[in-house]
Amino acid sequence: MLNKFLKVTIPTIIMVNIAIAQDISSSAVPTKHNKTLTIGDIAQIQAGLGSIMIEFAHRFHIIYYAAKASNWNLAKYELHELIEAQEVAETTRPKYKRQLRSFENDYLSQLNNTIKEKNWDNFKLQYSKTTIACNNCHRSNGHPYIKYILPKKAPKYFNMK
Ligand code: HEC
Repeated sequence: MLNKFLKVTIPTIIMVNIAIAQDISSSAVPTKHNKTLTIGDIAQIQAGLGSIMIEFAHRFHIIYYAAKASNWNLAKYELHELIEAQEVAETTRPKYKRQLRSFENDYLSQLNNTIKEKNWDNFKLQYSKTTIACNNCHRSNGHPYIKYILPKKAPKYFNMK
């Protein structure tokens, strides 16, 4: 009896949920430039992994030179922002969520500890381990040609001191 009830009820709930989701997704939110813009269109254009990775490389580069100049607050800030960017990718590209979480737990947290300790030697070591992990993730996802290397110079538009 209960079984029959569940067999009928659960699919009905799922179908209703899908119908509601489709309805929300096709709701129009017209703007000055696009009268037919929908919530679905907006959801679709959220930053994917490629855009987030450009931000990753940028911030990861700054982190190194900030730590080198003992501007530990800047290093800490950039790492915090990098992790926030990662959280966006976990939501927009959930298939990478598990790998991104382990990357954060196994590498970024350790890097954060060396920043908190203001320990340049430990930082450098952890930075190279993290770089290897970045590139391992590229390889394991079919992008062996994407290899991050640390740029030779600090970013131009920051006073690192
Ligand atoms: C979870 C796995 C993963 C980790 C960890 C990771 N990446 Fe990536 N990265 C990717 C994937 C996948 C792509 C290809 C993006 C796509 O498919 O849209 C990529 C692309 C890139 C790109 C190319 C972006 C472009 O479009 O020009 C850069 C640069 C990059 N990653 C840097 C880094 C750096 C630096 C780190 C470490 C701090 C890192 N990545 C960590 C998976 C990862």
